[in-house]
Amino acid sequence: MQTIGVIGAGQMGSGIAQTVAQHGKKVLLADIDLATAEASLKKIDAALGKLVGRGKMEVADAEALLARIEPVGDYSPMAEADMIIEAATEKEPIKQAIFEKASEVLSQGAIMASNTSSIPITRMANFSPDPARFIGLHFFNPVPVMGLIEVIPGLATAKDVTDRTIAFAEGLGKEVVLSQDEPGFVVNRILLPMINEAVFVLGQSTASIEDIDKGCRLGLNHPMGPLQLADFVGLDTCLDIIKVLYKTTRDTKYRPAPLLVKYVEAGWLGRKTGRGFYDYSGEAPVATR
Ligand code: CAA
Repeated sequence: MQTIGVIGAGQMGSGIAQTVAQHGKKVLLADIDLATAEASLKKIDAALGKLVGRGKMEVADAEALLARIEPVGDYSPMAEADMIIEAATEKEPIKQAIFEKASEVLSQGAIMASNTSSIPITRMANFSPDPARFIGLHFFNPVPVMGLIEVIPGLATAKDVTDRTIAFAEGLGKEVVLSQDEPGFVVNRILLPMINEAVFVLGQSTASIEDIDKGCRLGLNHPMGPLQLADFVGLDTCLDIIKVLYKTTRDTKYRPAPLLVKYVEAGWLGRKTGRGFYDYSGEAPVATR
């Protein structure tokens, strides 16, 4: 695979674009418009600048990587892509609209992949022209740093499509976990109940934000506590995922913590809005409760 289309140029899409380009492939990066895709390229440029500044990347390599990413204003250039990866908001109607539009340009033999963290692959495959060439390809944030990709074939996904997708993921220097198309796949099925439970613990005033995070950092050796991680992932995304788990299984153990719902209603979505369980407006994050 030499040319990859990435649709959605937010936190995940830009990380995917950076990682794919770092491994020598051409990336066509799209979002709602050209300006948004171009803004994402600027963020990637800034991230690479930091790596260069720390002596982790040569200037020439950073420039070459950046030159391999082309922001595009519509999907038509993706007709030359060997794979199109959707990395948009975790809302099914938005993804459906993207798949239907991308289907118009998807070339014969090319794979359509979704970076969904929880929406069923088998169902979304129907939004593509050929469910046999549709697959889940779930990256972790921050994409350039995290070593894992989950590969999720849907019921109709062809075996050779799964094999090509695994080879592509491994070619990005990542380890692959193969998951059946079950709600939350493997990692989020385990992670999201933990984050949700941490919000219940906070809501019941069992401990402070800082102590809940400290407990998991020091007691479990996690690099981030669950509330810090929720802010990092985005509280809206966390809520969307736990809602999918709840709706698809109807198991009340996945009911969203009321305080998580309130934070999202308040627009306190974590790092991206400057406030979640922590306030990010100062030098260092400060717990908000
Ligand atoms: N590109 C390349 N390298 C980058 C980078 C980027 N954009 N950003 C950071 N790095 C590198 C840094 O250069 C650094 O490298 P060295 O170790 O070689 O020095 C390394 O990554 C760590 O970065 P920092 O020193 O800036 O930060 P840190 O040590 O505090 O670690 C962290 C930050 C990697 C995010 C760490 O806190 C961590 O692992 N947190 C947990 C992340 C996690 O759980 N992610 C999964 C979320 S769930 C998900 O994504 C799935 C979903 O669907 C919700």
